[in-house]
Amino acid sequence: MVIFEHVSKVYNDRYEAVKDLSLEIAGGELVTLIGPSGCGKTTTLKMVNRIIEPTGGTIHVNGKDIREMDPVQLRRGIGYVIQQIGLFPNMTIAQNITVVGKLLGWSKQKCLERAEELLRLVDMDPAVYLERFPKELSGGQQQRIGVLRALAAEPDIILMDEPFGALDPITREQLQGELKKLQEKLHKTIIFVTHDMDEALKIADRIVLMRDGEVVQVAPPDEMLRNPADEFVIDFIGKNRLLRSPDEVKVEEVMIKNPVTIESNRGLAEALERMRKRHVDSLMVVDQQERLRGIVTIKDIQTGIHKKGSVGDLLDGAVVGVQVGQTVREAVYTMAEHGIGYLPVIDETGKLLGLMTRSSLVDILTDVLWYSRDAAKQ
Ligand SMILES: Nc1ncnc2c1ncn2[C@@H]1O[C@H](COP(=O)(O)OP(=O)(O)OP(=O)(O)O)[C@@H](O)[C@H]1O
Ligand SMILES: [Mg+2]
Repeated sequence: MVIFEHVSKVYNDRYEAVKDLSLEIAGGELVTLIGPSGCGKTTTLKMVNRIIEPTGGTIHVNGKDIREMDPVQLRRGIGYVIQQIGLFPNMTIAQNITVVGKLLGWSKQKCLERAEELLRLVDMDPAVYLERFPKELSGGQQQRIGVLRALAAEPDIILMDEPFGALDPITREQLQGELKKLQEKLHKTIIFVTHDMDEALKIADRIVLMRDGEVVQVAPPDEMLRNPADEFVIDFIGKNRLLRSPDEVKVEEVMIKNPVTIESNRGLAEALERMRKRHVDSLMVVDQQERLRGIVTIKDIQTGIHKKGSVGDLLDGAVVGVQVGQTVREAVYTMAEHGIGYLPVIDETGKLLGLMTRSSLVDILTDVLWYSRDAAKQ
């Protein structure tokens, strides 16, 4: 386990890159450090294996103050994976994986067995890959080797600095999945730096969100989505990912903004033509001040088409809608009550602002279900 106590790092006597950071990472936990560029993630990570020395505070690794440990010894007990991989180009895959093992004095046989075992762990056939050189592997495969190398000497703790940052999105998702599976088997203590909130949400037990060298919020993914600490967290997560119930979401957030309208004094033929052009089967009828007067459907027009008159004449006077500020749940009730699949959204003066549709509801409900399902799996 890793404990930061009031840790700070000042570069060049003036720039405080990490400020008073306190954090406890439990054994077997996967914690992601995330935040904007320059917020101090890499600095925090590198202080754990003493590539960077803190200016203040203490760091304990497995109960020991790391200042009292030999840095070389310390690093051998901590796996380290960096972006751009850093495999040795003139060493084979087998040699790359067991570089630390060799330093620890493993026999040739032990190195070979360990390399084979690890390759199998990520479904890479040892017979095919052991003797290859890094440049003979794809980017994703090289990055897998980078991860295996960090695992080779069986460290309890692994530091990963944007390990999948350079990969294409598909390979990246694959490796995230593999890391999760690996972690379920191996239960390492992992500190994983990333820029990518989707990645953090997918793999983390807890997310540590940083800004300007400070921790803004520490929480499991589900908790961060439900209860973001402040506006910064909300912005960073992205509003559309937030887990909110239909009681919290306002209709104006999910409505369609430009529903197809027609003024009430227009003729029926024009209304039909507009429906045809815009591929809709109903129109919001408004007056000249854009206030909602009602809705005409294609059926209304079919029954009324023989009469002369305007779309306004087809309206029965009842206007069903919701006002801005009402919740999605209220809108759903109103829809159900009137047996309709859509609902105009108006402001307090009756002006038409948008339209709630079934599909806008489906979007929000699937988001909620999706994230609760992921959360339930963890
Ligand atoms: N050796 C250094 N000397 C001076 N300032 C540094 C040094 N290393 C980093 N910094 C500064 O410290 C701050 C934190 O840097 P750090 O590399 O920890 O950020 P980061 O969160 O990892 O960013 P990124 O997401 O871009 O990798 C930055 O403002 C950076 O410019
Ligand atoms: Mg960095």
